Amino acid sequence: MTATAHGTPADVKDLALAPEGRRRTEWAERSMPVLRQIRERFTREQPLKGRRLSACLHVTTETANLAVTLKAGGADVALCASNPLSTQDDVAAHLVADHGIKVFAIKGEDHATYYDHIRAALAHRPDVTMDDGADLVGALHMVALNRLDDLPPPVRRWVETLSSADRAALVRGVVGSTEETTTGVIRLKAMAKDKVLQFPVIAVNDSETKHLFDNRYGTGQSTLDGILRATNLLIAGSTVVVAGYGWCGRGFAQRARGAGATVLVTEIDPLKALEAQMDGFRVVPMQEAAAIGDIFVTLTGNTHVVRLEHMRRMKDGAVIANSGHFNVELDLDGLAKEAQGPTRVREFVEEWRLGGKRIFVLAEGRLVNLAAAEGHPASVMDMSFANQALAAEYVVRQAASLGKDVHRIPAELDRDIARLKLSSMGVGIDTLTPEQQRYLASWDQGT
Ligand code: NAI
Repeated sequence: MTATAHGTPADVKDLALAPEGRRRTEWAERSMPVLRQIRERFTREQPLKGRRLSACLHVTTETANLAVTLKAGGADVALCASNPLSTQDDVAAHLVADHGIKVFAIKGEDHATYYDHIRAALAHRPDVTMDDGADLVGALHMVALNRLDDLPPPVRRWVETLSSADRAALVRGVVGSTEETTTGVIRLKAMAKDKVLQFPVIAVNDSETKHLFDNRYGTGQSTLDGILRATNLLIAGSTVVVAGYGWCGRGFAQRARGAGATVLVTEIDPLKALEAQMDGFRVVPMQEAAAIGDIFVTLTGNTHVVRLEHMRRMKDGAVIANSGHFNVELDLDGLAKEAQGPTRVREFVEEWRLGGKRIFVLAEGRLVNLAAAEGHPASVMDMSFANQALAAEYVVRQAASLGKDVHRIPAELDRDIARLKLSSMGVGIDTLTPEQQRYLASWDQGT
C-alpha cells in the first residue's frame, strides 16, 4: 500500500509519476467537452454528495477525467483496474496525489494483486459501483449468494473476516451499479434472467452514444494502434483476419482495410456474416482463414475463438491478438501445451514455436488496444463517460423506482449527449418544421 501525504489509502506504482499523469490527463480533457459540461453541472448541483462510489475501470487518462467528474459531483471515489495490463501508472499517481482519489492499480500487477485491488474497492463499502466487465458486481453477487469458494482468494479471505450481517450490509449498501462493456452486460442480463441480481444496473454499453461510437470507432482505431505499437508491422498488403463482426469487429475491419490490408471476417451469426460480406469483406470459416492470414484479431466476447487446430494451420510468423474483453478468445493454454516458448521478442510480443513455425502473440492475449496502446481516444470516451456520469446520477436518483434488473439510461439523455457532442464539434443539424411533425405523426396522407 502506498499512502500519500494527505493519507489517501492507495496502491500505485510511483507517486513521483503524478506530474506526467496530470499533463496527459489534461491533454485528454481537451477532447472531452461533454464530460466537462457535466462536471461543471455536477460541481454546482452535487448529485453524488455523500455517496461512496467504487469503480473498476481501465485506469487511463479518460477514466481520470471521469473519476474527477464523479468527485466533483460529491462522490468519495475508489478506483481499481479492470485489466491487469491497462493501467497507466502516471495517471494512477496523479489521481491519488492531486485529487485524493483512492486508486488501487499497477500496470502488470499479478493475479493476486489484481484481486487484492478489487478487494480494496469493495472494502470502500460502495453505495454505487461502476464496472467494465462486471468484476465488482460479480464478486458482490458471490458474497450475496454465499458462494465464497467462487471468489478469488484475496477477496474470499477478506470476506471471511466479515460477520454474516456485515456481508449482507456490504451488498445491501449498493443502491445501484453501472456497466461499461458488452461482455459485462451479457453477464448481468444472465444474472437478471436467473433472478439473482441484487440491485438495478444501468447498461451504459446499451446507450446509442456508447456502442455506436466507442465500440466501433474507438476499438477500431485503438486496436490498430495497439498492433502497430506492439509490432511496427506494415499493414498495407497484409491479410488481416477479424473474428467477430459486431460493433468492435466492424470498426476494426474498416480501419484495417483503410490501412491497406486485405480483410477476412469470421462470424457465427448469419446476419452479421451477410453484412460483412456485403460491406465488401470476404467471410470464411476460421479454419480456412487460418492458412491465409498474417494478423488475426478476435473481437467477439467469446472463448477459444482461435484454437490450436487453427494455429497449426497458420503461416510461419503469424501474429495473433485479442481485442475482446477477456483473455480467453485465443486458446493460449492449448498453445502452451504443444508449443515451445514463450520468448519475448519485443515489449508486447511473445514468440511461440509450433511445429517448426513461429506464432507471435501480442499482449499475452489481453486487450491489445489497452495493453500495447492507450485505449480509445478521448473524444470517443467523452460520450461513453458522459453516459457513465449520467448513469451514476440516474441510478442514485431513481434507485427506489428501478427494479433489480438491467436498465438503459433514458433515450432522451442519450440524445442529449449526442446533441452536446455535435455542438462541441460545431456541427449543426436541422429541426422538424411543424408541418413535418404533423406529417410524420399522420396516417391519412398518401400518394
Ligand atoms: P457484439 O455482440 O456487437 O459483437 C460480437 C460478435 O462476435 C457478434 O457478431 C458475434 O456473432 C460474434 N462471435 C461470437 N462468437 C464468435 C466466434 N466463435 N467466431 C466469430 N464470431 C463470433 O459485441 P461488441 O460490442 O463488438 O464487443 C465485442 C467484445 O469486445 C466484447 O467482449 C466487448 O466487451 C469487447 N469490447 C472491447 C473494447 C476494447 O477496448 N477492446 C471496447 C468495447 C467492447
